[in-house]
Amino acid sequence: MTQTVIEVSGLKKQYRSAVGRSRITALDGIDFTVREGELFGLLGPNGAGKTTAVKILLDLTRPTAGEARINGLPAGNPESRRRVGYLPEGHKIPGYLTARQALGIFGKMSGLDDVTIKRRSLELLEKLRIAQWIDVRVKKYSKGMTQRLGLAIALLHSPHVLLLDEPTDGVDPVGRREIRDILQAEAAANGTAVLLNSHLLSEIELTCNHVAVLRNGKVAAAGSIEELTRRAAKYKMVPAAPVDDALVASFRESGAGVERVNGHMLLTVDDVTHLNALVDKLRAGGGLLTELSPVRSTLEDVFVDLVRAVDPGAQQSEGARL
Ligand SMILES: Nc1ncnc2c1ncn2[C@@H]1O[C@H](COP(=O)(O)OP(=O)(O)OP(=O)(O)O)[C@@H](O)[C@H]1O
Ligand SMILES: [Mg+2]
Repeated sequence: MTQTVIEVSGLKKQYRSAVGRSRITALDGIDFTVREGELFGLLGPNGAGKTTAVKILLDLTRPTAGEARINGLPAGNPESRRRVGYLPEGHKIPGYLTARQALGIFGKMSGLDDVTIKRRSLELLEKLRIAQWIDVRVKKYSKGMTQRLGLAIALLHSPHVLLLDEPTDGVDPVGRREIRDILQAEAAANGTAVLLNSHLLSEIELTCNHVAVLRNGKVAAAGSIEELTRRAAKYKMVPAAPVDDALVASFRESGAGVERVNGHMLLTVDDVTHLNALVDKLRAGGGLLTELSPVRSTLEDVFVDLVRAVDPGAQQSEGARL
């Protein structure tokens, strides 16, 4: 059984509102765990409470109720942060520093000796493909290069826990893949628990094993990507000849969802038995199949459905935009 590294239970956070005496509930009792070697995605529309959860784990803000633990220690205990690497959203590294200097400063703050800092810096910049920029001032870096350096800093002290806020923001597709590979390699080789939040759902889908979707401070859905995207079983059915309306009506009577799309149908069924019953109906009418294939919903489909289901008004508001 792999060890639980991050444990959040019944976590609540209320902020005092800027005006009046009202309170803003950023987190309304959330639970999730991240195990050793797991890549966990924390998702949710703007204002859902993702950054608040990360800040509580780092003790940058205190919860109103509930608990957040890292390696069994409460987030308020400084010892809990010793092996945590953090990449804040839109992080800033002073422009007059070179990568070597920045890594040196952060390495010392993490208590590393000079030899380790040098070895690890070169190794990471090499992997992140910015090694040739090591002695160039950060102000000359592009956005994606700054992001890569931020990641190198977060990884420098070989953390056991990585908290990453939008790690691939501004990074090109090749770079995103490289970052994904690095994170997966860290998790696999060192058992690093990675908690990341991103609005790039296709990225999360490729990177993470597990996700939790926050909505209005609550966990609206959680599970493996596989579990979440398998939800509604959809199939593409391509008949040899166009089917008539009567057949479609009989599909619908059986409880199936039918969408007609140029010459084929997208069917939403309960299970495989239901699917086969539909095939029987088609065949009984003399119809022939040329193709029958499962259609997985993407994480983005699931996310948008969830956000809209909880708040139908979200379609027009900020909430549905990623
Ligand atoms: N320091 C603060 N004082 C008052 N309210 C705050 C504070 N920080 C966050 N909030 C509020 O708490 C809620 C959750 O904010 P949070 O930053 O955790 O969201 P998020 O999920 O990270 O959003 P985004 O995707 O935009 O980064 C929002 O309503 C926000 O306005
Ligand atoms: Mg945020």
